[in-house]
Amino acid sequence: MKEKGLPKTLVLQQLKSKLKEDFTYDSGKILGSMCTKPHAFAKQIYMKCLEKNLGDPGLFPATAELEREAIQLLGSLLSNPSACGHFVSGGTEANIMALWAARNLSEQNRNEVIAPVSAHYSFDKAANLLGLKLVKVKLDEQFQVDIAAVKDAVTSKTLALVGVAGSTDLGIVDSITELSEIALTQNLYLHVDAAFGGFVLPFFKELGYPSFDFDFKLPGVCSITVDPHKMGLAPIPAGGILFRDEAIMKSVSVEVPYLAGGNTEQSTIVGTRSGASAVAVWALLMHLGREGYKAVVKRCMNLTSKLAEGIEKMDKVSLVTKPVMNIVGIKSKVIDIRIIAQKLREKGWAVSVFPKHIRIAVMPHIKPAHVKSFLKDLKKIVNENK
Ligand SMILES: Cc1ncc(COP(=O)(O)O)c(C=O)c1O
Repeated sequence: MKEKGLPKTLVLQQLKSKLKEDFTYDSGKILGSMCTKPHAFAKQIYMKCLEKNLGDPGLFPATAELEREAIQLLGSLLSNPSACGHFVSGGTEANIMALWAARNLSEQNRNEVIAPVSAHYSFDKAANLLGLKLVKVKLDEQFQVDIAAVKDAVTSKTLALVGVAGSTDLGIVDSITELSEIALTQNLYLHVDAAFGGFVLPFFKELGYPSFDFDFKLPGVCSITVDPHKMGLAPIPAGGILFRDEAIMKSVSVEVPYLAGGNTEQSTIVGTRSGASAVAVWALLMHLGREGYKAVVKRCMNLTSKLAEGIEKMDKVSLVTKPVMNIVGIKSKVIDIRIIAQKLREKGWAVSVFPKHIRIAVMPHIKPAHVKSFLKDLKKIVNENK
């Protein structure tokens, strides 16, 4: 650090030039992220609440109450208005919290968690941190977790099952109904990772898309990850962990006696955490309501169909599978997809690359013109490839 500070104008000038390197959502070039440009209203609220700290709820009881209300609003979206939980740094932390609770509630001799191979790598981190063994099971032809393989994997050491409602690579929804039945009969904890799908799937029935049971309506579901900073349009950081009831959340609570706001029970991994996130999520849920979010999902799904139709018309590339939600997988039998991704990157497109496919997440910041321009570039790239 320099001894003497610089005038703000100079710092701003430097920042402007340094930040030029970053991609922006407005450019429409970010096609591979599950995050998006935050809603303007949420941004405005977030800026007003920067000093709120939910790590010391006694100092910010009103903020803590808004978090409770927002969690209940999300709970009602996921068929359980009496759900409890917190807004955390992201889906990773939410998934860690779920397995933390599952482990604390289980018998001591159990240490295995069964998850599909499609589960997000945050479960590997969680297992590593918590001293658990992650048992990964294969997928079926539809890319859903193979239920027979899950049943086979259950042993006397199993403590939890993980199901995914909107997989990271393809947006696939596992059969949570069947996982719930297994969890109930075998007395196992069931966590559903709906980090992405939680703000998409609740609207499918009304929008006329094939719908899925994946939430607290299913009696075996103990917790759900649902991230406002993905399809919820909230500013980062806003992951969400919802527990079916207080008793589950209590399993990860500790007493914190020294805080300025007074004694509190804390059931998050971190201490100090953003109150601005929680208030922004509350405000956005109130402002957009079901109708607003449904409209966002409708737009993204329409655009997903356009993108998928464009891919289907091309030679040399094809869809991995018909998109279930606003996530599209593109594969090729003749060209290495890493080469395609590299060429796309040279043209400014930021896509995600998985071992066998390119993933596009059709997020709210993507407009029809972006899809059109992407398809044009992709066609050119694959046709130029010998
Ligand atoms: C299904 C799923 N769960 C969890 C996560 C982790 O979320 P975060 O990056 O917010 O920690 C992701 C990230 O893409 C995801 O796709």
